[in-house]
Amino acid sequence: MKGIILAGGSGSRLAPSTNSINKHLLAVYDKPMIYYPLSVLMLAGIKEIMIISTESDKQRFEDLLGDGSSFGISLTYREQVNPNGIPEALIIGEKFIGKDDVTLILGDNIFYGQGFTNILRNAIQNHNDATIFGYRVKDPKRFGVVEFDQHQKVVSLEEKPIEPKSDFAVTGLYIYDNKSIKIAKKLNFSERGELEITDVNKEYLKRDQLNVQLLGRGFAWMDAGTHESLYEASEFVRNIQQRQGFKLACLEEIAFYMGYMTRESLYEKGKSMEKNDYGQYLMEIANRKHTQQYWDSIDRNPVLGLVENE
Ligand code: DAU
Repeated sequence: MKGIILAGGSGSRLAPSTNSINKHLLAVYDKPMIYYPLSVLMLAGIKEIMIISTESDKQRFEDLLGDGSSFGISLTYREQVNPNGIPEALIIGEKFIGKDDVTLILGDNIFYGQGFTNILRNAIQNHNDATIFGYRVKDPKRFGVVEFDQHQKVVSLEEKPIEPKSDFAVTGLYIYDNKSIKIAKKLNFSERGELEITDVNKEYLKRDQLNVQLLGRGFAWMDAGTHESLYEASEFVRNIQQRQGFKLACLEEIAFYMGYMTRESLYEKGKSMEKNDYGQYLMEIANRKHTQQYWDSIDRNPVLGLVENE
């Protein structure tokens, strides 16, 4: 399974903050936005990840994350010349995906909830064809909307409908098999001039090959694409972190728990930032002496990082 993070787009809804920088490099509270989707892929166990951004920002992402080796993963970078739509990620990533399946995540999507890692890993392990994730929202008109029957079988899909048929938004996390590339290549541009990810999902639906997994009320899902939602996301991350003392989407912490990073290198990384809270947090984790059993009893939640099981 390969992973792709789509972090291009024009970011126009966040102007002027995005006039000179890519939206996904803006901070969601104490770390860049891109950390959040990257943490999801890492905790899903995906180690080969491509980050697609804009021509002008590609280098900045590389400067931030490098080749991923310090987190025990492999990161490659590609650019999307124009924001032609989300499915273009599958076309740009064709060679990278090769014959594999792919998990695609949007760079401005933030997931939080105990058990999410397991849901995701199970979905990846047991998946065939396509799996999308539905989440109940108050304002479905802003999203792709999925309608399903009582057996959770998808009945319809619509992109930003004026009259939504359900309250369930399709989140920006998609698990696809290899034929998604072919499907993406055959798409036509929509009325708003983009290739639509909803059209990819519709094609799977037409073939009776679309699975939907619902994320319940115990989960939080946010996209941080507007000033309001970016602020709310930051506030959310801050509240959880302040309350629990755990960081959300701390890549080094995840790498450490996944066994990709040694205690020593975690400490060193922390030390290089020791004047701030992030660095101190890494050093604190590296200094904790716990047994393997303790780590095994932890739910490795993608954004929370870890939760001690009862
Ligand atoms: O967040 C979930 C929603 O994302 C889904 O419910 C919708 O079905 C899906 O179309 C998408 O809707 P948005 O209106 O939120 O898409 P937006 O244009 O804001 O782009 C989402 C992310 O993808 C954002 O981080 C920028 C990036 N992007 C988008 C496009 C169109 C690119 O990198 N390149 C692109 O061409």
